[in-house]
Amino acid sequence: MPKKIEVCCGSTCLPRGSEEIFDYLQNEYKDTEVAVHMCSCLGRCKKGPNILVDETKVYHYSKKRTIKERIENNEGIDYTRYDEEDKLDLRNDFLGDL
Ligand code: FES
Repeated sequence: MPKKIEVCCGSTCLPRGSEEIFDYLQNEYKDTEVAVHMCSCLGRCKKGPNILVDETKVYHYSKKRTIKERIENNEGIDYTRYDEEDKLDLRNDFLGDL
């Protein structure tokens, strides 16, 4: 069972139906421990709508009809939200604010 599902609602995924998928997943997991959120662009726009599960697996070409089964079968592709360089930049930015 996933813990966190993020549905990309960026400007490419949204017109491809990501909001409908978000509503569907939120409803499907409403009485569970699974948190369903919207998120901004995951950088894989051409393959949208994209869904990120537990920060580690991305699901391309998501469809309402099949996405829940794909998630529960752990069929996603390995994904890292930020590459190492971005992580370092982000940390440096935060430290700079202290
Ligand atoms: S808009 Fe969804 S991955 Fe870019």
